[in-house]
Amino acid sequence: MTKLYIKPIFPMTEKDFLPNPYQEFPDKGGVSWKAPSNIALVKYWGKKPVQIPANPSISFTLDNCATTTSLSFAKKEKSDSISFDLMFEGRPKDDFKPKIQTFLERVERYVPFLKAYHFTIETSNSFPHSSGIASSASGMAALSLCLMDVEKQLDPDLDETLFYQKASYLARLGSGSACRSIKGHLVQWGQHANIPNSSDLYGLEYPFEVHADFKGYCDTILLVHKGQKQVSSTVGHQLMHGHPYAANRFQQAFDHLDQLKPILKNGDLEDFIKLVESEALTLHAMMMTSMPCFMLMKPDTLEIIQKIWQYREETKTPVCFTLDAGANVHLLYPSSEKDKVCAFIEDELAQHCENGQYIHDYVGAGAVKING
Ligand code: PMV
Repeated sequence: MTKLYIKPIFPMTEKDFLPNPYQEFPDKGGVSWKAPSNIALVKYWGKKPVQIPANPSISFTLDNCATTTSLSFAKKEKSDSISFDLMFEGRPKDDFKPKIQTFLERVERYVPFLKAYHFTIETSNSFPHSSGIASSASGMAALSLCLMDVEKQLDPDLDETLFYQKASYLARLGSGSACRSIKGHLVQWGQHANIPNSSDLYGLEYPFEVHADFKGYCDTILLVHKGQKQVSSTVGHQLMHGHPYAANRFQQAFDHLDQLKPILKNGDLEDFIKLVESEALTLHAMMMTSMPCFMLMKPDTLEIIQKIWQYREETKTPVCFTLDAGANVHLLYPSSEKDKVCAFIEDELAQHCENGQYIHDYVGAGAVKING
């Protein structure tokens, strides 16, 4: 049989992610993948249907904060619908099912084996449940890699580059930022005129030179508020429609990606800090100035930010913060500063965390297959 797969030529289009006819259909099997969370330096906030970002973004891939997902599959008699059971940390978790159902329906045309099997999805997070750390990025990335692994069994000639790009493409359809949780270190997502091969459809390993300091960068996540987020990211993205500052914000993100290029190359930490903190506060400023408006920072978030600024001023340590759409603070610093910064966290910042809790993480190499 003639193989239609060719080495992916950039940039790929949606139809490039439609599969070849499958060659084999095993009766059953199982696959497992572990995918990390990520933290954006330039934030994605605002989207068009379906999951197309309003502006490009870039993130550090994390390492410790990860989701492990096992997907087992068994052939069904009737292949007329999608069917699956879902286990979260060893227990059935029916309230997660609608989100997974929507995701599977959305990706079915790209992985058309879905209706042929009944699936059991078993998933668990390395970080504490309800820690306020979003698990949708790592969760959707891990599940997408499992789906691609099944596809690889159905079509053993599937090219490796395409495997990972399509995993990122599928993950994006589950949760936008999840497309940045497949590959390692720095991942860029969203079309940008000055970034070759950048795409709105999937994340790309950052194609430019990156200073060694950023490879082992540390991210300590200070758990200020571990409860449910006050506003979901779905609602948050919608708030950018008709937002009075949206156009300027989107342009700023494009500009920030241009400005990051020499910063990342030269390891210019002073400018890195300025840009990253501006991005974090802009994200929150967008929420504070939308209609309806939201304040996601807590008093302890602000206390921590003030203390970081003071500490940086006094000690000249290149430590900075970034924020997700919540109250937790990500403390970013080079690994060479680890001992000093850990002492600062213990002495000054842990008291502002719920139950004194924080999680040490660092920039990692991306998702890995778990051999069962
Ligand atoms: O992937 P979503 O739809 O949950 O959006 C994530 C948005 C932020 O985390 C706030 C920013 C980002 O780029 O990760």
